[in-house]
Amino acid sequence: MLRSHTCGELRITHVGQVVTVSGWVQGIRDKGSLLWIDLRDRYGITQVTIETENASKELVDIARSLGREFVISVTGKVAERYSKSDKIATGDIEITPEKIAILNSAITPPFTIEDDTDGGDDIRMKYRYLDLRRNSVRKNLELRHRMAIETRLYLDKLNFLEVETPVLIKSTPEGARDFVVPSRMNQGEFYALPQSPQTFKQLLMVGGFDRYYQIVKCFRDEDLRADRQPEFTQIDCEMAFVEQEDILNTFEGLVRHLFKSVKNVDIPELTRMTYADAMKYYGNDKPDIRFEMKFVELNDVVKGKEFKVFNDAGLVVGICAKGAAEYTRKQLDELTEFVKRPQIGATGLVYARYNADGTIKSSVDKFYNEEELKKWALAFNAQPGDLMLLLAGDENKTRKALSELRLEMGTRLGLRDKNKFACHWVIDFPLLEYNEESNRWHAMHHPFTSPKPEDIALLETDPGKVRANAYDMVINGVEVGGGSIRIFNKELQAKMFGLLGFTKEDAQSQFGFLMNAFEFGAPPHGGIAFGFDRLCSLFGGAEVIRDFIAFPKNNSGRDVMIDSPSPIAKEQLDELGVALQIPAVK
Ligand code: AMO
Repeated sequence: MLRSHTCGELRITHVGQVVTVSGWVQGIRDKGSLLWIDLRDRYGITQVTIETENASKELVDIARSLGREFVISVTGKVAERYSKSDKIATGDIEITPEKIAILNSAITPPFTIEDDTDGGDDIRMKYRYLDLRRNSVRKNLELRHRMAIETRLYLDKLNFLEVETPVLIKSTPEGARDFVVPSRMNQGEFYALPQSPQTFKQLLMVGGFDRYYQIVKCFRDEDLRADRQPEFTQIDCEMAFVEQEDILNTFEGLVRHLFKSVKNVDIPELTRMTYADAMKYYGNDKPDIRFEMKFVELNDVVKGKEFKVFNDAGLVVGICAKGAAEYTRKQLDELTEFVKRPQIGATGLVYARYNADGTIKSSVDKFYNEEELKKWALAFNAQPGDLMLLLAGDENKTRKALSELRLEMGTRLGLRDKNKFACHWVIDFPLLEYNEESNRWHAMHHPFTSPKPEDIALLETDPGKVRANAYDMVINGVEVGGGSIRIFNKELQAKMFGLLGFTKEDAQSQFGFLMNAFEFGAPPHGGIAFGFDRLCSLFGGAEVIRDFIAFPKNNSGRDVMIDSPSPIAKEQLDELGVALQIPAVK
């Protein structure tokens, strides 16, 4: 071993011992008669102190030749520090070296390897291996490791088996585009990388495995956002002989266990909200319920005056921001600009301040007198000091816009503390949603999700009304997981494919393997998958999942460190039988 101790390990109790520590040179300070080296490894920093007059010339020369990020090994005696530091765990001691061995030199890194680095995103991604040396990134990956361990412990105790499923598969219809891989041995044919192991986990249930899980890579070729990567990880789970209630209980148990064991946070039993209520009160199927600020519908209260915007609107709906009546004109203008941004899409914002003195002043005073505004306040249950914010227009668009405004107000009013966790289930999702572009029904979750038994008759008459046995877990407004009870009956599965516009032949050729399996005694089953990266970033108090992935892709889906994707050689393409329009690398 090139070390006896790590750089985070030595304490006052080690004073007098001869030790060897190895690591990277974080920094050197040379005061002439005294020279300090901060030596860093994964575990911490240890100070090496050389009194140049008492040390050998050779040792001092070596020390003076060191640069940042050199890899060295130091052997010496642990001494009590003269001036102690409470900033680091090893702050009571230092090492008086007898020997310094340079294990490797290093060129100057392109950014400082410190908590507050001077490196921007792009450069840190290009040199990710240097970024990984930084505390913050390392801590995120340590958290991820702990989460994976605790997940396995919890599921193992409940008899779940971790089973690996293949990566070279056939398309799984999760709604995104597939990444595909050409097959050399079957020219003109392609594998798809799994968007999730969905069909395999269902087949494992037919195979009698009963309780399955896997911490597994999934691949989706979709537009990237802060909480999306093209290759991401799921905690994927499936259970046989269960109903929705069993799944909800088992997996809220998992999340509560993770909070307790990893963060020592007690999460109360999860509340449940129907999809219909989530849309009605929050305009969103993943509401952040760290704060209330529910939607109030106002058609009955505001229509019928001279104000055309409200009269013409499909929906007038608003929120009441507690204690925000003193918002300045400038702040209100900012909010108006916010809702008018193209991504939000509202045409304008109406506000009414319920002043502390009991008067109410609105931006539409011309159309609504004080007495009418009092009715607004009543509908909002507003108190003096509150600010009422209203949007109007097409029902769906307006709900969506107000949902964004609600989150913005939550942020502005400091109601979205990242150290507070509000976890809940959203249940009773619609089974299908109509897509105007393709002119047909699409599965809201995926085609294997079962309708609620009491709604099955509606499949014939009013498919849009059918509710699914599907559920999402939402934490602080982030969809961390989703799943469903599956269809396990061949006829119902075939009917579902029919509704989704598959011909019998298409359904058979794409999913024949699953429907056939259902003829051999498929047990009732259901499951869920958690977005592991999302869960880790939430636990780490961050919104960007990239920081919790060792080697992530950037926003254009590129790995800038290894420069991928990249063209491949013509011979390779020829061998695969893939003809490309673009020229391949020679
Ligand atoms: P779903 O498609 O809802 O369900 O995915 C499950 C969870 O995975 C996470 N997730 C992502 N995380 C990062 N980047 C992405 N691109 C990304 N896409 C999804 C989300 C999401 O809640 N097979 C079903 C599960 C089931 O029915 O059991 C499935 O994959 O947190």
